[in-house]
Amino acid sequence: MLPAAGFGTRFLPATKAIPKEVLPLVDRPIIQYAVEEAVASGIEQIIIVISTGRSAIEDHFDSAPTLERWLEDRGDIEMLRQIRRISETGTIAFVHQKEQLGLGHAVLMAKDLVGDEPFAVLLSDDVMLNPGGTPVTQQLIDQYTAHRGSTIALQRVDPSEVSRYGIVQPIHQEGRLVEIRDLVEKPAVGEAPSDLAVLGRYVLSPKIFDLLESTSRGAGGEIQLTDAITALMVEQPVFGYQFDGVRHDAGTRIGWLKANIAMALESDDADEVRAYIRSLDLRD
Ligand code: G1P
Repeated sequence: MLPAAGFGTRFLPATKAIPKEVLPLVDRPIIQYAVEEAVASGIEQIIIVISTGRSAIEDHFDSAPTLERWLEDRGDIEMLRQIRRISETGTIAFVHQKEQLGLGHAVLMAKDLVGDEPFAVLLSDDVMLNPGGTPVTQQLIDQYTAHRGSTIALQRVDPSEVSRYGIVQPIHQEGRLVEIRDLVEKPAVGEAPSDLAVLGRYVLSPKIFDLLESTSRGAGGEIQLTDAITALMVEQPVFGYQFDGVRHDAGTRIGWLKANIAMALESDDADEVRAYIRSLDLRD
């Protein structure tokens, strides 16, 4: 499931009328990267949680017969193939979150569709790339299967940035796998239990839904997924996994700009982008 119902406050005014999830990263909307990662990880049923006014997300994944006919008439078969592939990606269901009460609340909206099965949560702000390797969500699924426990993606962050993330208190680490004692949402700098941050991928036991139902508002006055995962730890094992791959932060204006540059330098336009950057006067 992909939560995409927020106001996109970190991108205002750009996101006044359009959701941040459809802002482009090089050649496709931010959310498409996460959907592609889910599909590449073997997930066939995708749930996107949206809110009123977010219909651009639904439209993006819908078929576009007029556009397709126009591309066909022009003989632009490559673009036609790309456009068709988007609407043929897995089965996508949309669920509405009527009030923006937080990430935990958004996840709870998918309860009935998920049912009694483990499921993955992908925050599309965190663009996870692992070209040629195992997709990050697949890495977490593999850990869930091997250890029979909910598994969340971790990456070290600069200690000055801990208050932007959920931060774990590790007990023990073996290779990339981290046993966790506690989890704190957005701790103050200097009060964080470590520099290991939760990044936007989770593979969770369906037990999380019962816990979300009884989770009260936490950091920022929101119902936090982090708090429900902390409660889950009392009942079931929860692991962290220092994933293999690169994460781009497309959830802030500066992160999104950097992600565009970094990803453009890996794209088909890389030579031109590199030449353009070289031509800029970069002196202070
Ligand atoms: C959310 C989670 C946080 C996590 C972060 C990763 O925060 O609440 O625990 O570390 O995503 O990007 P948000 O970015 O929605 O404020």
